[in-house]
Amino acid sequence: YIHHARKEANDGWPEFRGSSAIEDQVDCAYVVRKSDASDTKKTVEIKCIKPGDMMMPEPFVAEVEFDDGKKTASLRGRTLINMFFEASTRTQASFELAGKRLGADVMNMSVSSSSIRKGETLIDTAVTLNAMHPDLIVMRHHSSGSVELLSQKVDCSVINAGDGQHEHPTQALLDALTIRRRRGSLQGLLVAICGDIMHSRVARSNIHLLQIMGARVRVVGPPTLMPTDIDKLGVEVHYNMRNGLKDVDIVMMLRLQTERMQGSFVPSISEYFRFFGLDAEKLKFAKPNALIMHPGPMNRGVEIDSEVADDLDRSVIHEQVEMGVAVRMACLEALIGGRRNAIGAVA
Ligand code: NCD
Repeated sequence: YIHHARKEANDGWPEFRGSSAIEDQVDCAYVVRKSDASDTKKTVEIKCIKPGDMMMPEPFVAEVEFDDGKKTASLRGRTLINMFFEASTRTQASFELAGKRLGADVMNMSVSSSSIRKGETLIDTAVTLNAMHPDLIVMRHHSSGSVELLSQKVDCSVINAGDGQHEHPTQALLDALTIRRRRGSLQGLLVAICGDIMHSRVARSNIHLLQIMGARVRVVGPPTLMPTDIDKLGVEVHYNMRNGLKDVDIVMMLRLQTERMQGSFVPSISEYFRFFGLDAEKLKFAKPNALIMHPGPMNRGVEIDSEVADDLDRSVIHEQVEMGVAVRMACLEALIGGRRNAIGAVA
């Protein structure tokens, strides 16, 4: 979810004017309305998106793809604070670049040298930052729910860049954009999300968004890495790759999130690779033109074999990174860009 915490108007949410009205004004953003009229929460999770609410950020895609060097000034004078409590390369760089390309001032807060290291609580840090009046805070944190908590304590908009095992909404948005560009639509596609489903916020956000956009989702992995009750999210559950990959259009691989594991969840890395690592042999069960995706960072020889990761025809892993910048530009524009008054909030 991305929180929009403006304190004006009603409960902080500007009126949603309906998709077509917004489409006329906003050609570049993913827009989502409040989950329902009575919802007074400022939080919108990815599961609240309705298909008609989504607009693809095509102008930004073009800008990122062709890198025409144009830096727009739509966020000039706006301040974005990146607060990453967990290691990150692509997500943090992507938000930074997105902000800079739109002319915002971007500050990367280095958590390792901040007062957090001196024992300050997350709330105190948030209140301190709030007093400096940023327009937007982008936060990644190892605790599920921490971004929601932060958003309650600050006045500015907050974007969730990954909270524990809960959600990673901009990753799901960029995945959807990548698939849509390759396949035209997500409607009716069969997607297998494979690996460490239990610890993956990417899996959770994707399960919600893909289904909203009309795709069918399978989750594939060993029982030890499958959350109980996962089928309640509307997905088909498979415990072996042969059945799980049968006739799928998209294979989305996930990393073993060892940093979130207490104890051992797989007997050994080599056994995991043998049964659940994506290689050419297992990929044969998918449709011949199936796309290979991975949010990164990849662990070659653990969940994916180099031969398929680097397959130029089928792997869209680099395209995902590229689309990440476009999606984040669209999110920033929608939340703190010049046209924000016309927009509800971003998913
Ligand atoms: C993912 C994350 O941090 O949740 N990575 C990312 O955002 N690019 C997945 C992962 O760390 O494996």
